[in-house]
Amino acid sequence: MKPVFVYGVMFLIMLSGCDRSPKSGHGFRLPDGDINRGQVVFVKFECNRCHSVGAIEQLTSASPESSVSVKLGGKVTAIQTYGQLVTSIVNPSHRLVGRYPKEQVSTADGESLMRNYNDEMTVTQLINLVAFLQSNYELRPYQGPRDHLY
Ligand code: HEC
Repeated sequence: MKPVFVYGVMFLIMLSGCDRSPKSGHGFRLPDGDINRGQVVFVKFECNRCHSVGAIEQLTSASPESSVSVKLGGKVTAIQTYGQLVTSIVNPSHRLVGRYPKEQVSTADGESLMRNYNDEMTVTQLINLVAFLQSNYELRPYQGPRDHLY
């Protein structure tokens, strides 16, 4: 391997290791939320019009949006950080979930079908909501292809 290449790779690793750009999420820490209150917020804002999570079923309404169904929570192989959860709520179009076809989760101009709650939701409600959502994710260690188990 050429030394120039090795230095190049080391430089990139260093760069990614200390992302301190003004827009970095570094240093962001929410106070602990209340899971039960978060569940109340979830139902109050009718997030279950488009989502099911844990024991909360998706509402079946005749609204045109009812065809949208994105399951939250469950077993995941990578932890859902509160940074990601907060972003999904306050900036839904920032990153659309990859496991659904784009047409199913976004409008023709690529915006999320999920609307913005920023002018109605208090910060306390957001903190509790994130605590509630996070409590519904279960981290499952990656096991690799099943064949290798036998
Ligand atoms: C009109 C339907 C609709 C409503 C109502 C809605 N969402 Fe969403 N939500 C979506 C869609 C579609 C996506 C997937 C596209 C995206 O990531 O924005 C999504 C994505 C998410 C994600 C990211 C999921 C993931 O696996 O990355 C979270 C978290 C979330 N919503 C939480 C909420 C919460 C909390 C509320 C209530 C305050 C809510 N949503 C209300 C449609 C909705």
